[in-house]
Amino acid sequence: MKPIVNLGIFVADCAFRSARLPKTGETILGNSFALGPGGKGSNQAVASAMAGGVTHFITRLGNDDFAAMADGIWRKAGVTPEITVDHDSFTGAAAILVDDSTGANAIIVTPGAAGRITEGDIEARRALIERAAVFITQLEQLIPPALRGLQIAKAAGVTTILNPAPAAELPAETFPLCDYLTPNESEAELLTGLPVTNLAEAEAAADALLAKGVGAVVMTLGGNGALYRDKTRSLHQPIISAGKVADTTGAGDAFNGGFCVALAEGQPIEQALRFAAATAGISVTRRGAAASMPARAEIDALLARA
Ligand code: RIB
Ligand code: NA
Repeated sequence: MKPIVNLGIFVADCAFRSARLPKTGETILGNSFALGPGGKGSNQAVASAMAGGVTHFITRLGNDDFAAMADGIWRKAGVTPEITVDHDSFTGAAAILVDDSTGANAIIVTPGAAGRITEGDIEARRALIERAAVFITQLEQLIPPALRGLQIAKAAGVTTILNPAPAAELPAETFPLCDYLTPNESEAELLTGLPVTNLAEAEAAADALLAKGVGAVVMTLGGNGALYRDKTRSLHQPIISAGKVADTTGAGDAFNGGFCVALAEGQPIEQALRFAAATAGISVTRRGAAASMPARAEIDALLARA
């Protein structure tokens, strides 16, 4: 199997749960705390590897305890790290505040060393990217290295995916480099200036993104599943439930990671969307981000009974 190459960030997630979120200037008591592996790119790479994809992850880390945490989760999941160690920086962290009663969250992510990934770091992995089945990146590191990765992949005929998270304005040249763009609703709103509050609006926003030059849009819609849209058709993939929802942190990453594996395996789009939805469906039943990604056997078992 040809590899999946993911460019992105790793951070240590510091997840606090409390009865409600604090207001500015307020101190409240929390109910629980957990420290675990996060960062969208790393979460997606872990999801891909656990789901059976040969997965390489390009990033920068500091030389510290959080870097050791990254190494631990990648080893466990079977991700091959493509790391630049940045001795002048630190491995990043995210403060994740979760409202225990609603599950709503608020996140601050500081990329640290991964915020210093350069276009040179990407050039150094050109040969790897060129022989990939799928190249995927997000927007937690700087945009120029993401663009460089997409350019190299696209020119080599590698399937490209941009998960535009967190939301940011993108240069116009970005869109035609994306075979698949995978925003959630709010990211699609920011990229198009259109409201996305229902399926009809999601389709209109997807059309606006297609008009910018992306090959296809896969918009994740939270509890409403996902919308696939290209120039000729629309598909709606409902969520695939694997039980009670415990933590939605990283659900989008699970979806993207699973989607990469399905594409790398050459699954037809309907099947790829189901595979991605099942990966996400299992991840939300468990706490944590990377630590909640399911093994291939679990995904196959859910798909067999769903
Ligand atoms: O997508 C979830 C991730 O976003 C978390 O793991 C956190 O690190 C933030 O980057
Ligand atoms: Na989870």
